[in-house]
Amino acid sequence: MACLKGGSTKTTTTNFLAFVRAIRRKRLSGKGLPVKVLDGDTVSQTTYRWLKKFRDAEARRAEARQEEPRVYPLDVERYPFEDLDEYIAELRADGYDVFADIGGGNVQLFHKALRQADRLIVPLSPSEFDFDRVDPTFSEAATVYDEHARGGFETYVLLSRVISEKQSRECREELGKLKFRGEPLVVLEAEVEQLIEYTRQLGKIPPNLDEYTSVWDEIMRREAQKRAALKAVV
Ligand SMILES: Nc1ncnc2c1ncn2[C@@H]1O[C@H](COP(=O)(O)OP(=O)(O)O)[C@@H](O)[C@H]1O
Ligand SMILES: [Mg+2]
Repeated sequence: MACLKGGSTKTTTTNFLAFVRAIRRKRLSGKGLPVKVLDGDTVSQTTYRWLKKFRDAEARRAEARQEEPRVYPLDVERYPFEDLDEYIAELRADGYDVFADIGGGNVQLFHKALRQADRLIVPLSPSEFDFDRVDPTFSEAATVYDEHARGGFETYVLLSRVISEKQSRECREELGKLKFRGEPLVVLEAEVEQLIEYTRQLGKIPPNLDEYTSVWDEIMRREAQKRAALKAVV
């Protein structure tokens, strides 16, 4: 998850999608590997704080009730990762699913993560939509495409903190003018609404993952269709 801009809901998106994946993974495989979440934000480290807040609250709760503390379902690690690209490659080779929250302030780290990524998700809030800041994210992404470890990555724009259909429509119209490597940007149909509930989940395992489950499912569906189309051509 990346966007060269603060407050674009990268951290929320990273964690919710990782929770969706962690829950799925457990259900489907029963294998032991946790979902890895890398906090690559050099400035604010909110993803790491999410874990810390959970542990602190859980320790207090468990002590008060004389219970074992609940285990956090994500395996979070934080910056600094000078060799973030090598680290992601290692984790992938070991079979981990990796979700990286790349802060807006470090282009170098963005490049490194992207060289090893299957997909780049750029979350944008239509209420704070800033045309001038979206384009640089995709321009920077395009510069590393040819150096990608496996011949390229998928890119998606996710509209989150959506207030109204009108706002979403206007934002999609603006985004329609932008391109990535000569093609129109892929803006996901699934959106995340602006809800107060989302501002209260830091340090919690969110009870409601419905919207982000739709986001994840749409991404998987699009990639499956793309693979099927490629196979048909071959
Ligand atoms: N769907 C949403 N509805 C309302 N508030 C949201 C939503 N998603 C994120 N937020 C809030 O927006 C702020 C910025 O989100 P955050 O994920 O921290 O962005 P970033 O990591 O890009 O800086 C946070 O206060 C977060 O709680
Ligand atoms: Mg953040």
